Amino acid sequence: MTGPEAADQAARWFAECYGAEPSGVWHAPGRVNLIGEHTDYNDGFVLPFALRQGVRAAASRRDDGVFELRSRQAPEAPATVPAGALAPGTPSGWAAYPAGVAWVLLEAGCPVGGASIAIDADLERGAALSSSAALECAAALALTELYGLSVPRPELAALARRAENEFVGVPSGIMDQSASLLCEQGHALLLDCRSGESSPVPLDLAGFGLVLLVVDTRVRHALSDGRYAERRRSCEEAARALGVPSLRDITDDPGAVERLQDPVLRRRARHVVTENARVLQTAGLLRAGLAASCGPLLTASHASLRDDFEVSWPQADATVEAAAAGGALGARMTGGGFGGSVIALAEAASGGDVRASVDEAFAGHGWKPPRYLEALPSAGARRLR
Ligand code: GLA
Repeated sequence: MTGPEAADQAARWFAECYGAEPSGVWHAPGRVNLIGEHTDYNDGFVLPFALRQGVRAAASRRDDGVFELRSRQAPEAPATVPAGALAPGTPSGWAAYPAGVAWVLLEAGCPVGGASIAIDADLERGAALSSSAALECAAALALTELYGLSVPRPELAALARRAENEFVGVPSGIMDQSASLLCEQGHALLLDCRSGESSPVPLDLAGFGLVLLVVDTRVRHALSDGRYAERRRSCEEAARALGVPSLRDITDDPGAVERLQDPVLRRRARHVVTENARVLQTAGLLRAGLAASCGPLLTASHASLRDDFEVSWPQADATVEAAAAGGALGARMTGGGFGGSVIALAEAASGGDVRASVDEAFAGHGWKPPRYLEALPSAGARRLR
């Protein structure tokens, strides 16, 4: 939901919390990563696009230097913190994300003062659709605009990421915040995570007679549970063993991977190198108007994440298999892994068959039925009013 209804709903929630109209309402979308998983923190390439769904921050300045944070999705857990008391761990829970943004802006010398913020969202948490980054980016836009600061979007993305890394304590890469702030409607974003250069890649699914189904497997992941950080460490170790600054540096020498003695590091590095190549091939196909031909690359990405990077989970593997049986052109898990969502690319006419096939597989295993979302490549974060 975006546009006037979303803005009205967020403004009403603000009025309920603070008894006044907000000065503004800002929206930041969640994202689907089309391809390029676990490549961002290896200085590689990613190709996400923004969803229509996301997080709204209705906000006003306040002159007592206090940040008051309330969420319509967690009304039982408001947070009120004076600027001087902001520190990693204070506040904790959902409020750490917007509070972390205030903290990082202050640390970076951006003169933001206090604010009353009311959050409203239509993005499932834990579904690997970047609800955390959307929350950070909505707060970042609200705070900077309330205080008349114009921070270039790539810098704002880097600050929001710092909030997640240093305040919340999750060692994520730059993809999610970049997607939320930089994506354009009808396009995916090809981002070079080393240089920071990005360019829009046309993704007019409907124009090609295609749909991209997002299947929420309803298995919940937590990036802070250690396995994500462990993958990062393995990649760093592999790069060290190969004598390069990062795995990006062996993009043009995929054979280098075979020099790694340790079989686990070899598999992890192989995923990163082959995934970077798949991102560039996918972007090339999309630019050539060959969206339907991207299917096998998505499926190959999934196999690599399952077998080499080992971040998939049984419901995701079953979804990819069932989607293919139902006629999908390709499918893969999206996001960090260990839970969340799978994307399936299909001809619009086969969308129903793909869903039926996935539903049947879940029922056969006795799993909770999955939830579906049709992914529409949407605009990045913006002020709604
Ligand atoms: C999470 C992180 C991203 C990225 C993906 C994996 O979404 O926040 O930075 O590393 O996992 O591609």
